Amino acid sequence: MARHEGQVIFVRHALPGERVLVQVTEGRVGDRFVRGDAVSVESASPHRVQAPCPYAAERLCGGCDFQHATPAHQRELKAAVVREQFERLAGVDVDVTVQPVDGDEDGLRWRTRVEFAVGADGRAGLRGHRSTTIIPVDDCLIATRPVIDSGVLDTEWHGCAAVDVVDAAHPDEPVLVPVPAPAGADAEGGLVGELARDLTADGEWVGEYVVSARGFWQVHPGAASTFLTRVVALLEAAPGDRVLDLYAGSGLFTMRLGELVHPGGFVLGVEADPHAADHGRHNTAHLDHVEWRANLVERELRSLLAQGVSADLVVLDPPRAGAGKETMALIARLGARRVVYVACDPATLARDVRAATDQGYGLASLEAWDAFPMTHHVECIAVLEPVPHRAGSPAGR
Ligand SMILES: C[S@@+](CC[C@H](N)C(=O)[O-])C[C@H]1O[C@@H](n2cnc3c(N)ncnc32)[C@H](O)[C@@H]1O
Repeated sequence: MARHEGQVIFVRHALPGERVLVQVTEGRVGDRFVRGDAVSVESASPHRVQAPCPYAAERLCGGCDFQHATPAHQRELKAAVVREQFERLAGVDVDVTVQPVDGDEDGLRWRTRVEFAVGADGRAGLRGHRSTTIIPVDDCLIATRPVIDSGVLDTEWHGCAAVDVVDAAHPDEPVLVPVPAPAGADAEGGLVGELARDLTADGEWVGEYVVSARGFWQVHPGAASTFLTRVVALLEAAPGDRVLDLYAGSGLFTMRLGELVHPGGFVLGVEADPHAADHGRHNTAHLDHVEWRANLVERELRSLLAQGVSADLVVLDPPRAGAGKETMALIARLGARRVVYVACDPATLARDVRAATDQGYGLASLEAWDAFPMTHHVECIAVLEPVPHRAGSPAGR
């Protein structure tokens, strides 16, 4: 972010502390803020590198934000964003470092799922930054080799707006799903509706998860196992615990938690997408104390609380929009001894932590993971615990 004569300029392809020549790409004199692209660098940051990808430059691909910084500095920049959001939105000072996922130090060839846009000529490419322009590419350095070798970039895709390429464990070849689906494809919008993800975490085989080709699954190959390992370690579920897995997808956390609370406990997975909830049911079918509700979290929580249900532990992993103030208040009413919140947007996480604080929970720990190297995205895992009541404190808790 730069300032010029009182105007704020959001500059792509620059780094903090640099002096660069900026071409304004959006907005005009008099606007409160404008956007621009660094077109030449007069004094470079010591963390600047030549972007490995030739499409990571002005007016080209809009996908990667940080190719021009060392991976270590990318993580420092993300940590600074997390700290700033927590200070601004949660009113908490956090000391956080962003850790690479699964030893991924170069940040390349990790993306197991890419949705390529299709142009009027039928060729697949990647979108420009904040633009409908489709940039023709012959490679994408953050995509896995099987995604690129799938032939998606050498095929003409007439009649669809995009092609989603998914590189999972099974089948061996990536699945290519035209979007929207051509007539006659199955209801999930794919020519191939299902695929399987094998999961090993901490060197131990966890299981095989069946998921929809276009259903949610972490895109970095090391992310699902890292987050599962961390959630299990942070939640400390034990036999007898009653656990709610909210925004549960196809059961990434549900399966392992179901095993840990046995005997005597139960896990309830709540997921709005009925296909994902069906897959969750399938993936946990061997655990008869695991139940699923294909419902909105907020609606399900209201109904559970009306029945007097409480929980020992809660894990939630909402989409980018976060859970929201009302849902956080409902979660607090469950009375859990610990809530583990997995978040892909630090701003909505910080807002929700603030909401939890208002309901008597405090931030016990925060960690951050670089599950999306070369982009500005960062995944956080926060632990919330009830704050003991202190007589005379205005919040009362
Ligand atoms: C980030 S994904 C997490 C899935 C799962 N925990 C995993 O890691 O594979 C978020 C999930 O929340 C679901 N979802 C979004 N809004 C929801 C809501 N209001 N109630 C229930 N589920 C919701 C989405 O369908 C998606 O499966």
